[in-house]
Parts: sequence; C-alpha cells; structure tokens
Amino acid sequence: MSSKKSRWENDSAEDAEEAARRKAAKEAKRLKKAQKAEEEAAAAAAAARQEQEHDAALAVSDEPPSKRRKVSTEPDEHAPTPPTASARYLDRDDGEAYLLRFPAAAIQPCNSVDDYEPLNRIEEGSYGVVSRARHLFTGEIVALKKLKLEKETDGFPITSLREIQTLMAARHPHVVNLREVVVGDQLNQVYIVMDFIEHDLKTLLDDMPEPFLQSEVKTLMLQLLSATATMHANWIMHRDLKTSNLLMNNRGQMKIADFGLARTFGDPCPPLTQLVVTLWYRSPELLLGAEEYGPAIDVWSIGCIFAELILKEPLFQGKSEIDQLSKIFELMGVPTDANWPGWRRLPNSKSLNFPRTKQTTGHLLRSKFPLLTANGVALLASLLSLDPEQRITAEDALSHAYFREDPKPKAEAMFPTFPSRAGQEKRRRLSPSAPARGEAPQLFGDVGLEGRSGLFAGMEEEEVGGGFSLRVH
Ligand SMILES: Nc1ncnc2c1ncn2[C@@H]1O[C@H](COP(=O)(O)OP(=O)(O)OP(=O)(O)O)[C@@H](O)[C@H]1O
Ligand SMILES: [Mg+2]
Repeated sequence: MSSKKSRWENDSAEDAEEAARRKAAKEAKRLKKAQKAEEEAAAAAAAARQEQEHDAALAVSDEPPSKRRKVSTEPDEHAPTPPTASARYLDRDDGEAYLLRFPAAAIQPCNSVDDYEPLNRIEEGSYGVVSRARHLFTGEIVALKKLKLEKETDGFPITSLREIQTLMAARHPHVVNLREVVVGDQLNQVYIVMDFIEHDLKTLLDDMPEPFLQSEVKTLMLQLLSATATMHANWIMHRDLKTSNLLMNNRGQMKIADFGLARTFGDPCPPLTQLVVTLWYRSPELLLGAEEYGPAIDVWSIGCIFAELILKEPLFQGKSEIDQLSKIFELMGVPTDANWPGWRRLPNSKSLNFPRTKQTTGHLLRSKFPLLTANGVALLASLLSLDPEQRITAEDALSHAYFREDPKPKAEAMFPTFPSRAGQEKRRRLSPSAPARGEAPQLFGDVGLEGRSGLFAGMEEEEVGGGFSLRVH
C-alpha cells in the first residue's frame, strides 16, 4: 500500500471542522424553519377558531344550539376568567387568545311609580309636586318629585332633562341623592325619586325659636360651599340657590336640591337666559340684564343664604327687580367705575337714576351683623361683591380665615335634631318662587329702556327700598 496520502487526506482536519460547522448551521436553519412553520400553523388555527366563533354568534341556525348561550349580565362561575388589561398583550402558554371585555351598560326600562306607596304631599313648587312615599319592596321612605309635563306639547322639556342630567352629574355628599327616575301609565307622568330629607332650611329657620349658632352656621356654610365648588368644577351652575332649596336631615347634613334651573356652562359661555334665580337671591349683574354670566351668580346667592342663616330672615326682600337692586345698593354701596369696572355697559344700568348719596359700604354691613367677627363680615362682603369678577369663588371661600377661627365649625353629629314638618300636610310658601319657565321669552325684547319692557316693565313709579331709592327713567 502506498504511504502517499490521498490529496484529500492532507486537509482533512480543516475540512472536518468546516463540515461540522456547515452541518450545525444547516441544522439550526432547519430547526428555525420548523419552529416558524409551527407558529404560523398555530396562528392560523387561532384565527380560524375566532372566525368560527364570530360566524356562530351571527348565524341564525335552524337547529337548536347544543348549549344555550348565556345572555344575562350575571357573572358565570364556570366561565374562564378573562385576562386583566395588563395581561392582554402577554403570550399565553396554552395558545388561547382572549379578547378584552368591557362591561356594557345594560339598557333597562324605567321602574313604575306603582312600586311606591304615596304617603303625603310635601310641597307644590313651580316646576313640580313633591311627595313622600314608601318603596313597596324595601320599605324605604323616599321623596318623589313629579315633573310638570301636563302642558307640554313639544315633547320632554329641556329643563326637565337638565334637572335629571345635572342632578346625576353633581353627585356629592351635600347634594340630594337621585335614586332613579320612574314613570306612570301616562306619557306625562315622570317622577324623580330622591332620598327623603326631613327639613328644608327655609321651613327650619321659620320654625326655630333661636337662630343657628355661629359654629353651626360655619358647618352649614362649609357643606354648601363644598357642594357648590364641586358643581362649578364640573361646569354646572345651580341658578336657584335659596334656603327652600337646601334640605337638612337630622344628622347635621345639608343637601342642595332642586336642579330645576340648573345647567352646564362653558368657557366661553353659551347664550343663557337672564331670568334665573329667585328674586331675593338674584345677583346684581342678572338684575342689570347681563347677557353673559357665570357661576358667580351662585356665589351671590350663597352670600344671601349666609346672611339669612345669621339673621333668620332673608337679607334682601325686594318687591320687584328695581326694589331688589335698591336694597342691594343700599347695603353694599352703589356701583362705580372703581368698584365694578364695566357695570355701565350692562343693559339696564342706563335706565337707572342713582341718588347722589355718600358711599357707605363697610360699616353698614358691620352694623347689620354686630355679632359677626371681622373675618365673618369680610367673607360676607366678598360673597356679596357687586362685581362678579371680584366675587370670591366657592373654592376659595372654603379656605377663608372665618372657618379657622373660634368658634370652630360644629361636628355634624353634634347638631340638634328638629321635628320634621315634611311628614305632615302640604305647606304654603310665603316667599317668592323661582322664575317660571313661560316668563323667559319676554327678556328678548328691549330691556328696561324707553319701552320699559322686560325686567323693568311696569316700573313707571319710583320703587322705594328702606331709606334708599332708585328711579327708572
Ligand atoms: N328629597 C326631598 N326630601 C324632602 N323634601 C323635599 C325633597 N325635595 C324637595 N323637597 C321639598 O319640596 C320642596 C320643593 O321641591 P323642589 O324645590 O325640588 O321643587 P320645585 O317645584 O322646583 O320648587 P320651587 O319652585 O318652589 O323651588 C322643597 O322646598 C322641599 O321642602
Ligand atoms: Mg325649589
């Protein structure tokens, strides 16, 4: 045998190495290809399964389904738990594909008013009748407000829609709780069901032998301001804050009610009706015919309520719009370019004659509230600022020094309880009501100028407020 190596043998070590490397690379490539094919097959199978399920859901089969599909909103104990939102993009070991499920609000019909047994009528206001009732199944006592729809010919009125919408949007511990809306047999029988609250502040103030203590006034004001601040933060104006719309339970809690005039606002404000807020609680800019206004109108009403809680009677009890303005200017001073820039541009300011009296703002307020501290008077003055731009906001008022000084706000649990009149018969109001819906259109005429239509219509005569008068010319 020849010792000569084959020429192939010479480079055998290198070749073997190279061959092994190629083989390994080839094997890796094959494995990768197989893995990819496997993945593609799994994805195709999942897509096909999904499509099948989708088709099955849409198909109207002649044959009965082998298993009834669950349509109730009740959770199914045996159903596989869907993944959480955070897990939705994670690869699953079992190859199962889940879709994220979001709970869809179930549409249900309104309950019937027949679920409630009427007990007694609480009050008939301008927009509805309020009654006390008992829920037949739970025994809970509620207040039912029947919306006045009898005269409606153009469908469900926007004001009623707003009342429901804003009441739902303004949920707060110091806003009356809306439980549900129920209907009667007739189309015009629609009721708002609320928690029943024993008192309204107006009736309570009338019945109380003594006014609230300062510590109690502070608690009530903080409750009112916090609910209003939340409403305003949610772009809702109440537009009818007054003591008869503030309810009070026997646990020291006040609740804002009656969203009959409430609406949402914006920045800039949409066109708004000027005839809002019950006269005694109406701000000077509204009385002067401002076409644009904002949440500051509620703050003015809160200033009037603050004074009423202390005095035990409404602060400005005007007999007409002009008399109301006279009473306001008498206590808070007449508007000037310094204290209210731009007031002269308000439509009704041109039709007024101001008496040339000396400006006597501060000390009048001080002497009308002799028991109120300097901080208390300062808060009242900033709630009742003539210029809405300078008026304090509900949010800022919450942190006013008045609430931090002694006597401190009283704990709710320490409030006295009062016998409830709302469980008795219907009462009659002696104070004015909120502006009625039908009155609004007259505002679109000439307001308070030569024609004397609109706000100052019929005010030919001089109207006299106590010791101060305004003349319309
Ligand atoms: N949830 C309630 N619980 C107890 N009493 C209530 C409740 N809601 C309203 N009332 C009583 O009914 C009265 C009238 O209710 P509300 O103010 O909502 O109706 P309205 O027709 O808009 O009244 P108005 O035009 O007089 O302001 C209230 O002043 C209060 O005394
Ligand atoms: Mg009311």
